[in-house]
Amino acid sequence: NWNMRNFISEQVESLREEIGDKKVLLALSGGVDSSVVAALLIKAIGQQLVCVHVNHGLMRKGESESVVEVFQKQLHANLVYVDASERFLSKLEGVSDPENKRKIIGNEFIRVFDEEAMKLDGIHYLGQGTIYPDIIESGTKTAKMVKSHHNVGGLPKDMQFELVEPLKQLFKDEVRACGTELGLPDYMVNRQPFPGPGLGVRCLGAITRDRLEAVRESDAILRDEFEKAGLDRRVWQYFTVVPDFKSVGMKNHARSFDYMVIIRAINTVDAMTATIEKVDWDVLETITSRILDEVDNVNRVCFDMSPKPPATIEFE
Ligand code: XMP
Repeated sequence: NWNMRNFISEQVESLREEIGDKKVLLALSGGVDSSVVAALLIKAIGQQLVCVHVNHGLMRKGESESVVEVFQKQLHANLVYVDASERFLSKLEGVSDPENKRKIIGNEFIRVFDEEAMKLDGIHYLGQGTIYPDIIESGTKTAKMVKSHHNVGGLPKDMQFELVEPLKQLFKDEVRACGTELGLPDYMVNRQPFPGPGLGVRCLGAITRDRLEAVRESDAILRDEFEKAGLDRRVWQYFTVVPDFKSVGMKNHARSFDYMVIIRAINTVDAMTATIEKVDWDVLETITSRILDEVDNVNRVCFDMSPKPPATIEFE
């Protein structure tokens, strides 16, 4: 892609000029935007970039590991990996209100990131994966927000850094093309959207470790089977949810009283409205039997038929 190559070399040059020998800090969630900014900054300033990846314990299966694999092992980034899982889970214990959960996760994220930033010396800049739609949206936002959105890239308000936002002219598809040109793996560049609060809003009500594990494992199975069926490239967003109530079933000839997994698969253009993907029945059956076989504490699988509106894409 000739245009992207041009964009990258221009950005590399101007980033080097602007940043000089100073250091840049970046919250690297592993999402498309933060990953592409990281790769661009690594190309431009190498070890002067310090990436901080906070694992809030609500990541999908293998997600934090792949951030470490790609950025530390392959791109040799200066990466600080913070496993804050226990901290987040204990803060969330017993909290069932969706908005409270979101607030706790958002605030705790800022606190952890802030603490890591304090340990570092001589940081002048904060890198951010702001893209063009972020700028127009925040300028013209009229629609009332149904949920408090939290992006893991969100920064502490009182931090005194200058911002570096090299993607702010790009649309999402251009950001992906830029990532591909920079050598990021396809699964990272073309991934489906994932909310900042992660699996926390898919483990409904007060988060417990057993249900969180059921969400994580069932989500991994769903993603695996969607990939095998070629649906991963076609369906806009797909995930599983585990409610906080049980139903009666039968396991090994005995009564079971266990949780259920709800599968959601939707298509949308702008996430404001959404329709249901008509998933092939055989694919659904395969996913269902794998979840029932492989995931602990689950005895039932359901498929969510609700469009948005009236349902939202996520459950909380
Ligand atoms: P809803 O559930 O409001 O979601 O229909 C619309 C889209 O936004 C995603 N989502 C989030 N994305 N931070 C994000 O970056 C968040 O806190 C958040 N909450 C929801 C959701 O996955 C869907 O794609």
